Amino acid sequence: MKLQQILFSQGFGTRRECTAIIERGAVSINGDVQRRGDIEFDVEGLTLTVHGAPWPFHAQAYLMLNKPAGFECSHKPKEWPSVYELLPMPLRLRPTQSSVDGVQAIGRLDQDTTGLLILSDDGQFIHRMASPKHHVPKVYVVTAKHAIDDAAISALLSGVVLNDDPEPVRAVACVTVSDNVVKLTLTEGKYHQVKRMLAAVGNRVEGLHSAQMGGLMLDADLAAGQWRWLTADDLALIKSPGTPARP
Ligand code: URA
Repeated sequence: MKLQQILFSQGFGTRRECTAIIERGAVSINGDVQRRGDIEFDVEGLTLTVHGAPWPFHAQAYLMLNKPAGFECSHKPKEWPSVYELLPMPLRLRPTQSSVDGVQAIGRLDQDTTGLLILSDDGQFIHRMASPKHHVPKVYVVTAKHAIDDAAISALLSGVVLNDDPEPVRAVACVTVSDNVVKLTLTEGKYHQVKRMLAAVGNRVEGLHSAQMGGLMLDADLAAGQWRWLTADDLALIKSPGTPARP
């Protein structure tokens, strides 16, 4: 792939801006400054250095972010900063790929929800992960205002009706962690689903943490606000059926 196209595909700006960055001598490969955008490079395993910072080439972006509270999962946030501000500029400027407009969060977490958020610019992957048809399990750690008793757990597992939704929704697993804390596994992603399910059993969510999607868990050592690229093994795990919440 030509160097200018490589930079453009990675989100370093418009084609013209990418040419300018290269001509300014800001891009090097294996320690050699490259001043021509029309030279071809093999992108397999390629790491560019742009303005002194290494950037590993990724044909498509698959990311894990540890979402802190106080961020909205929206490109046009209303009240809180956007989670996309936690990503470096190239990931925010990646061009549209197969009709996906740059990097997108898969499923929206509320501003006060913390934890695992997966982002990608691969349309098929986003669809597969987000579609209720594919039943991708998502595990949440729910801290409730009141103790969550056995009757509430049975109701969450057998199905509760949310507002005027026609069909009841149910958790595929609900494991008690302590009196007020459960690990809840859902395979759908309806608006405010966990909060509405807890409200339907007469309780109230006071803390919500996304812990797992498919078989992939949030890294224990990824600090709030930090992100990382997903590996091929992570992608295999996330697409695997996963295990519902365990104690
Ligand atoms: N359910 C909710 O209520 N909020 C979230 O952020 C995710 C699931």
